[in-house]
Amino acid sequence: MAELKTRIWNIDFPNPIWTAAGPGGADGEMLLRAARGGAGALVAKTISVEAARVPAPNIVSPFGGSLLNAELWSELDYRSFIERELPRAREAGLPLIASVGYNAEELAVLGRELDRSGAVDAVEFSIHYVGKDPENLKRLAGALRDNVRVPVLAKLSPGVGDLEAVIRTLEDLVDGYVAVNSVGPALDFDIETRRPLLGSRDGRGWLSGAAILPLALHHVEAIASMTGKPVIGAGGIRRVEDAVKHLMAGAAAVQVCSLAVLKGQEVYGKLAAGLSKWLDGHRFESAGQIVGLYRRERPETAAAPETAFPRIDSELCTRCLLCERSCIHLAIHFEDEQFHLDRSRCVRCGLCCSLCPQAALSLEADR
Ligand SMILES: Cc1cc2nc3c(=O)[nH]c(=O)nc-3n(C[C@H](O)[C@H](O)[C@H](O)COP(=O)(O)O)c2cc1C
Repeated sequence: MAELKTRIWNIDFPNPIWTAAGPGGADGEMLLRAARGGAGALVAKTISVEAARVPAPNIVSPFGGSLLNAELWSELDYRSFIERELPRAREAGLPLIASVGYNAEELAVLGRELDRSGAVDAVEFSIHYVGKDPENLKRLAGALRDNVRVPVLAKLSPGVGDLEAVIRTLEDLVDGYVAVNSVGPALDFDIETRRPLLGSRDGRGWLSGAAILPLALHHVEAIASMTGKPVIGAGGIRRVEDAVKHLMAGAAAVQVCSLAVLKGQEVYGKLAAGLSKWLDGHRFESAGQIVGLYRRERPETAAAPETAFPRIDSELCTRCLLCERSCIHLAIHFEDEQFHLDRSRCVRCGLCCSLCPQAALSLEADR
């Protein structure tokens, strides 16, 4: 069996599939459930000095595998979170990571309290509601750095602006990065009633889950190329292969949120078991072996040669006609169940190859 254990910041993690700050880490009880569900580390819901007043409704699923949320941060008093909920979660015997927000004064208070309690192994701070000003981000990281002795992680939101400038600003103050938080602001509403789906003041919230996987991979890969510090991937993980992608993009471990909201807290262990199986099937001995593999092994270019056009493997093709229907350039048609490509119309976009459920189409040059 492939080795899933990882050691990051001198902390031992039984596997690289962690909870993410969110409903799965809302309190001690939820964190214990996540531990029973097989998580490799417990990341608690973000706490702040002022408890949040969360609107209702605050989580909806506008389309498959994705969520819009207006959950803000924890509604619990931070003192009781640190004194009661975190020690309860600690009973699981897993690495425990606190999440804090938002301004520098608040982070200093929360950092001091967390340090005094000795309850956590690391602290991440969320830049979700604080803007992009690098000087401010520096103050935030510094406020935690000055007050805690455990590793400090910056959790980045997509659209943070100049990513390279942000990493340069934070690099000396943090021990690692979490990428990414949910994406937004985002809006959806009912066309009959014109009511927004979320109960927030302006109806807006944050998008997560399946829809944001490529955005998350972009951030993980880009950040990993800018720093030698651990990057923890988050965003869009629904299947083992998604976790594999995060690791290959450069994540040392991953956090999972929306999937656990939609499918329950057993998903962490299922993903970890699936990851082990996937690694075995691909003859890797450990999860660590695939960290950054995409970055190390990606080919110079993914561009097909100029002479390449969609080519069909007739043995695999089931004549479902999906390629014909989805060819917006009208280059594909089937006659007598045979695939025909009009090269004068085909722009070699590659969509048919990507859509084919049988992988019967590929963009290949004439042999
Ligand atoms: C309902 C909900 C609540 C969340 N609450 C927090 C939070 O309190 N703090 C935080 O940093 N991120 C929060 N997030 C963001 C997640 O931790 C995660 O970064 C994001 O959802 C992407 O991962 P996913 O696609 O697996 O959900 C929340 C996400 C959801 C869906």
